[in-house]
Amino acid sequence: MVDNETIQTIKNRRAIRDYDTSRDVPDEFVFQVIEAGGYAPSAENQQPWRIIVVRDKKLQEFIGQRAVDRTIELFGRVTPREELERRLSYIKSKASLERTIDILISGERFEYIKGNPETNGAPVLLVLVVDQTHIGNSQATLRGTGGVYGWSSPRHAVIAGSMMMENMTLAAASLGLGSCISSVQLDHFDDVGAISERLNIPYPHWMPILCLTLGYALYERTLGPPRQQPEEISFLNKWGEPFKGGKK
Ligand SMILES: Cc1cc2nc3c(=O)[nH]c(=O)nc-3n(C[C@H](O)[C@H](O)[C@H](O)COP(=O)(O)O)c2cc1C
Repeated sequence: MVDNETIQTIKNRRAIRDYDTSRDVPDEFVFQVIEAGGYAPSAENQQPWRIIVVRDKKLQEFIGQRAVDRTIELFGRVTPREELERRLSYIKSKASLERTIDILISGERFEYIKGNPETNGAPVLLVLVVDQTHIGNSQATLRGTGGVYGWSSPRHAVIAGSMMMENMTLAAASLGLGSCISSVQLDHFDDVGAISERLNIPYPHWMPILCLTLGYALYERTLGPPRQQPEEISFLNKWGEPFKGGKK
């Protein structure tokens, strides 16, 4: 199998939730990450995205608290403990499993989004906002055209925005930065509305869908949750037919 720097960056990138708060991320790096994001593909090259760089501590706190509150609701109240244990069964050490469950049900796992130094929070929080208007507003050469034959779709914007997000995480990793995509504070429409209002986002025409924390990792994290192998997630020609990719 071929191995190269790109493949290594993809495989070694990890979700970082503990940041070295003695190190800020220079704006030049944030800019470079966003620039790399903007090279993502998008339908008709609509580039249906905007990024809000949140450095204001009060705003980070507000957004992070939404994440913590929703996590407490989701994992602390709604999801039965047996279900949490089943989902986390890949964690073999009993102590690590208990700790992971504790930080989920207490919401502590998502404190990092608030950016507080005491809890190793991320210095920078990016909010990805995508165009939901159908009319190609997001890019000057398409403005007002409705996309070619009206094919512009909110779904395309979410798909393209996700690609932009992945570009940004990989660019960050290549620059030695840790990052973590998060959605829990934007999964509930009440939160989408509240966060949009605080950030002056013209919601619902533009919709915040994901956040990305950026900062230097407090410690190296190479081991992530396990991945399914290609033969487990791909088929040859038809659904259900094994694709072995050269393996016997
Ligand atoms: C759409 C999406 C939503 C996510 N939401 C959250 C989140 O709300 N909070 C969080 O800490 N991580 C979140 N993550 C990060 C995943 O938990 C993480 O990428 C996954 O567990 C795999 O771990 P790895 O990135 O270290 O390989 C999200 C990732 C994606 C792609």
